[in-house]
Amino acid sequence: MAIAASEIQALFNRIAPVYDTLNQELSFGLHQVWKRMAVKWTEAQPGETALDVCCGSGDLALLLAQAVGQAGSVVGLDFAPAQLAIAQERGRDRYPGHDLTWLEGDALALPFADATFDCATMGYGLRNVVDIPQALRELHRVLKPGTKAAILDFHRPLNPTIQALQTWYLDTIVVPAADRLGLQQDYAYIMPSLERFPQGPEQVTLARTAGFENAIHYPIMGGLMGVLVVTKD
Ligand SMILES: C[S@@+](CC[C@H](N)C(=O)[O-])C[C@H]1O[C@@H](n2cnc3c(N)ncnc32)[C@H](O)[C@@H]1O
Repeated sequence: MAIAASEIQALFNRIAPVYDTLNQELSFGLHQVWKRMAVKWTEAQPGETALDVCCGSGDLALLLAQAVGQAGSVVGLDFAPAQLAIAQERGRDRYPGHDLTWLEGDALALPFADATFDCATMGYGLRNVVDIPQALRELHRVLKPGTKAAILDFHRPLNPTIQALQTWYLDTIVVPAADRLGLQQDYAYIMPSLERFPQGPEQVTLARTAGFENAIHYPIMGGLMGVLVVTKD
């Protein structure tokens, strides 16, 4: 059964203090590589206005800041204030001269005018929103015509061997690691969220329905990860 938005918000507030450390350890640092790939796919350029939806502690927003430089600007949006507080601190430390804004808001009702942004990212957010078509419609609305967004997330691989490996990894590595921090329940949600998450071709269909005529899904690591790259015409 899907969980309510308020529960998701509470969960990400609760895990904020350990979120970055666990991500780093559990992906062996690889999440940074996938995030860099996603930012590359947005084709972010110096001077542009960029958006990171479901920014969490700010990894993708900070990579966007690097790409758009001091002449550009980045907005990181999330509905979990505890995550935003960490993002803000990291932004101040790493990119003091950049135009970075951290905004508490809902991915399903973005607080921006139509056609505001030159590029956008969403990392591990689409799997967590309670209404995927609405999140895609909102992303489409706030992008300028001719611009791109890259949506990175975990997937349930179709290959049975890789699927078994993923189940083993989640049960044997991820949940016990979270358990040691008293967060077993919080990390146990990952498997059901993966089971529910649409596969690549279905994501492409959802993106087209949301208005992105051009949508391509790139599987990564045998389908364990994927990036949906969408272009607004
Ligand atoms: C798994 S974290 C990903 C954080 C970050 N993008 C990263 O890649 O590390 C998912 C984030 O989505 C946020 N989120 C989920 N639903 C949201 C919504 N409807 N509006 C805004 N943020 C949302 C959560 O608060 C959480 O910080």
